[in-house]
Amino acid sequence: MDSKVENGGVNGDDKGWSWGSSKPVPSIQEIVRNDSQSVPERYIQNQENRPLHSETSPVSSEIPIINLSLLDNGDENERKRLDSACKEWGFFQITNHGVTDKVLHKMKAAVTAFFDLPLVEKKKYAKAANDLQGYGQIYVVSDEQKLDWNDMILLMTLPTNCRNMKYWPTTIPGFKEAVEEYSIEMQTLTNQIFANLSLVMGMEKESLQKYHGEMIQSLRLNYYPTCSNPDLVIGISPHSDESSITLLLQDDDISGLQIKHEGEWVVVDPIPKAIVVNIGDAMEVWSNGMYKSIEHRVITNEKKARISIATFVVPNEEVEIGPLEAVVDDDHPRLYRTVKYADYIKHTVSTKQDGKAQTDYLKTHNV
Ligand code: OGA
Ligand code: NI
Repeated sequence: MDSKVENGGVNGDDKGWSWGSSKPVPSIQEIVRNDSQSVPERYIQNQENRPLHSETSPVSSEIPIINLSLLDNGDENERKRLDSACKEWGFFQITNHGVTDKVLHKMKAAVTAFFDLPLVEKKKYAKAANDLQGYGQIYVVSDEQKLDWNDMILLMTLPTNCRNMKYWPTTIPGFKEAVEEYSIEMQTLTNQIFANLSLVMGMEKESLQKYHGEMIQSLRLNYYPTCSNPDLVIGISPHSDESSITLLLQDDDISGLQIKHEGEWVVVDPIPKAIVVNIGDAMEVWSNGMYKSIEHRVITNEKKARISIATFVVPNEEVEIGPLEAVVDDDHPRLYRTVKYADYIKHTVSTKQDGKAQTDYLKTHNV
């Protein structure tokens, strides 16, 4: 069976993210469906990129947990904990966030239903050659490049006029409704987090939201098949997110996400119903490096396929991002230059994901 996912034509005048392109790659889910023992050459990472157990910390319990209902009640202490989490970890999990089990469950069910479709059905949503949205893969810039053990579909969700419905698998009952409900909930959480971060950065509550211009939200639905030899492959290569923040919903009972903390890879073990939040590159720049956009990766396992739903919040493409006045003074000189966000995205999607190389592009020369 042919596992190839060809680019679905050219996007033409369609709305969407035409900020870059990526080469078509096979569906790894389909390869594993046909032969669960297969680990094709293009997925076998070079020695130095393989996930070594010796570099992985056995404890994940230290990753901060933030109680969102306390933040909502204006709890000063919890706001300070949020500030420390962003400074020291760049990653935290939120609990008591008020998103119902039903909404989370429906979203996960929609993702599972999509990846369960036969390949021929999924291909109907294959991304256009000049678009980043749709089913396929991004950051594939050469035919020699090693591939991640991951299939995904990327959908723009907000503002609603950015949606390109040709990529939405609307034949799956409940898919559209699940994504719409989930997207609204993530927007609410985003604004709550921004309001609290604005206050700790010494600004008005609405400031961070305003700095985004018309905020853009996209969802990346990830599928990681089982792998007969997880030590040789990588689910997602080490990278930091280009977003301002990312909110991640992961499977309750399978871990895979790891973050770089003090030189070690730390596993982000799922806490049922919690949502993982991380600082992205745009926020690192705005905060002048006070908050860190942390390198992370995904590893695979032999036993169970894993899904995850990443919600990326990004500034409007016209927005210029640079260190905010509120955090720059004589003692804290500007560490990043100011760039148009669209230029940054165009730069990152034209390169293979490679740890923190992306934010180095944003740094001023004197660091
Ligand atoms: C991502 C990402 C982590 C995961 O999509 O950018 O880092 O656990 N995902 O799937
Ligand atoms: Ni990521």
